[in-house]
Amino acid sequence: MAGGAVPADLAFRFGSTASAVRFVQALRPADAGPPDNALLVCDRHTAPLLPAGAPAPLVIEAEEADKDWLAVARVIDAAHRAGLDRGARLTALGGGVLCDVVAFAASVYLRGVRLVLIPTTLVAMVDAAVGGKTGIDYAGRKNLIGSFYPAAEVVIWPGALRSLPARQLAAGMAEVVKTALLGDLGLVEVLERDGGAAVTGDADAACSVIRRCLQVKGGIVAADPTERTGRRDVLNLGHTFAHALEAVTGFGPWNHGEAVAWGIARAMDLGARLGDTPGEHRTRVLALLRSLRFRLQAGAEAPPEEMVAAMAADKKRRGGQLRFVLQRGVGDTFVRAVDRADVLEVLAAAAR
Ligand SMILES: NC(=O)c1ccc[n+]([C@@H]2O[C@H](COP(=O)([O-])OP(=O)(O)OC[C@H]3O[C@@H](n4cnc5c(N)ncnc54)[C@H](O)[C@@H]3O)[C@@H](O)[C@H]2O)c1
Ligand SMILES: [Zn+2]
Repeated sequence: MAGGAVPADLAFRFGSTASAVRFVQALRPADAGPPDNALLVCDRHTAPLLPAGAPAPLVIEAEEADKDWLAVARVIDAAHRAGLDRGARLTALGGGVLCDVVAFAASVYLRGVRLVLIPTTLVAMVDAAVGGKTGIDYAGRKNLIGSFYPAAEVVIWPGALRSLPARQLAAGMAEVVKTALLGDLGLVEVLERDGGAAVTGDADAACSVIRRCLQVKGGIVAADPTERTGRRDVLNLGHTFAHALEAVTGFGPWNHGEAVAWGIARAMDLGARLGDTPGEHRTRVLALLRSLRFRLQAGAEAPPEEMVAAMAADKKRRGGQLRFVLQRGVGDTFVRAVDRADVLEVLAAAAR
């Protein structure tokens, strides 16, 4: 890690609870939790990241397919067997899946114990670890079961990113771009100038990018901690398109971040078509996504009719119309209903 100072720590308030965010240059045994009345949970990719002297972890499987009751039961069972009481601490060292599972377990074990998240993917650092959403998948639906339970503490250790596969890092970059577009013009400029090196270059640079993302996300979430007022909806920029692409292509060829980058491009196309997004903003965002090497054409993989059907199926559960998050510019984001015909036309143009 380069020498400079670690950026100032952050704190976010969500209603009556608060999350403290701490940036560390190296993970210390104490970050992984105390020896007593505590449980540390890792998966097989993150257990090797633990420093010598850290408590022995519970190692669970934490791929998306494992984000289920069984994973939660394993955590709760281990907590119970270890005799953890209401003053206990649960610590998660892992990606978004592991963080979501451990956070859910922490929210229900003894009606809630202290939760510390140490995210190890870029997605988890900029998105999953802050915002208070926990969850598991059920009956084919992502995050059908869960709770709002902000971590008491989030420890950001960018050194974890060194072992992250490139594709997984890129997935995180898509959420970084999304977050920057939602509220940090300076960060958009950093990404335009430095590209992926803004995160991979050195740990100080990574801390700065992550801190800026957390400030944007934390601000949006604090205004709507339990997703009641619609203020959080803007966090779904690019996601209606992305979810449909993931579904239509069978959750494989495109990972979530790749689909989000593609979806942000389509949100720009749609906004421009409707006259909401100025041409310069669309051009700028597409150029940024291209410079980060995201794939912006899905070709025959995204048949427009199938895509719109997938969007409609997704929306039906939330009651009706096709609605999209669109932008007039960086930090100027809104949600509006859109005619099916406009969505079809944007998808057809993107497939050509
Ligand atoms: N709670 C929220 O607000 C929120 C927000 C965004 C995403 N999520 C959830 O996060 C999940 C996606 O998380 P993700 O993108 O972090 O992927 P992930 O948790 O599935 O991890 C991807 C892979 O990377 C491995 N890994 C993790 N850290 C590593 C490291 N430092 N080095 C090497 N390998 C490592 C994991 O073991 C796994 O194999 C989804 O389930 C999504 O629903 C939740
Ligand atoms: Zn996302």
